[in-house]
Amino acid sequence: MEESRIAEPIGSALDRFIKSKQNQFAYASGELSQLLRDIALASKVVNREVNKAGLIDIMGSLGSLNTGGEQQQKLDVLANIRFSRALMKGGEACALISEESESYLDLNNDGKYVIAIDPLDGSSNIDVNVSIGTIFSIYRRKSKPGTPIQQEDILQKGSEQVAAGYILYGSSTMLVYTTGHGVNGFTYEPTLGEYFLSHPNMRQPINGKIFSVNEGSYKSFSQSVRNYLHFCKDEGYTGRYIGSLVADFHRNLLKGGIYIYPATAKDPNGKLRLMYECNALAFVAEQAGGKASNGKERILDIQPTSLHQRTPFYVGSKNMVELAEQY
Ligand code: AHG
Ligand code: MN
Ligand code: MN
Repeated sequence: MEESRIAEPIGSALDRFIKSKQNQFAYASGELSQLLRDIALASKVVNREVNKAGLIDIMGSLGSLNTGGEQQQKLDVLANIRFSRALMKGGEACALISEESESYLDLNNDGKYVIAIDPLDGSSNIDVNVSIGTIFSIYRRKSKPGTPIQQEDILQKGSEQVAAGYILYGSSTMLVYTTGHGVNGFTYEPTLGEYFLSHPNMRQPINGKIFSVNEGSYKSFSQSVRNYLHFCKDEGYTGRYIGSLVADFHRNLLKGGIYIYPATAKDPNGKLRLMYECNALAFVAEQAGGKASNGKERILDIQPTSLHQRTPFYVGSKNMVELAEQY
């Protein structure tokens, strides 16, 4: 029996799990495994900084430099630095697309992968001790390693992701990812400094009773979105909105529900970014039996034309997203 067919038991350490699944990858040379380990390692560093969020100002009042002699920085900039350094050192990726950089960042030109990342998602929740996250997508580069990076390496459709996932810095820290063979969730054990498999083969309930949307923007939603929200209320669904996409998505993944960030009068393409927010979560959702759409089209089929392009986003339980699309 192939090693990858043997289910890893709950409690397996992330490294062991990644290794045992390595032969599921199309190009099983170990680089994608190393990339996932680099991301996991950087997330542990970010997690440590997230846990000190309220203390950074206290320490900052002593002077603008921290104990390492570095400037104190906002957590989303810090998180961006942590992930880009880890990926640069790792050497498996040739380019990094990030919410925090206007253009993509060149990493190791011999690297075979392209990464898109939202290093810190839910920034408005940092200062108030509410869950935040990191979102990542991994693509295989199309051009030959060692040659100049091409637009076709950078602007790939979500359907070409080879792996994607998120880290949720919540009441516990979790890493959830897929390589296209289902979704697995790992919970961080801070005293051991390791992620352990806690949620094997995650499945999103096909129906749900939670709707997550910023209703403060109700007046700028289209009539059809308003009608769908009326339907949710008539059915007595539960409204839950954290304002951190990762946290809202994760809850709905486990419990069943729909997350909506629609087009608004002000933002006709909504607010969320296709390349480093929606694609990764769409891939995870589909791999868990859920669905992700811009209201008309499958998110993973959208051809990006620019790094920071936005899209309306409907993601969650399959039947709920399908019904919302009909509206
Ligand atoms: P980021 O912190 O990376 O800029 O993302 C914030 C996003 C997302 O996490 C969240 O769901 C959404 O913005 C909230 O927007 P509203 O405040 O407009 O509801
Ligand atoms: Mn975000
Ligand atoms: Mn962000």
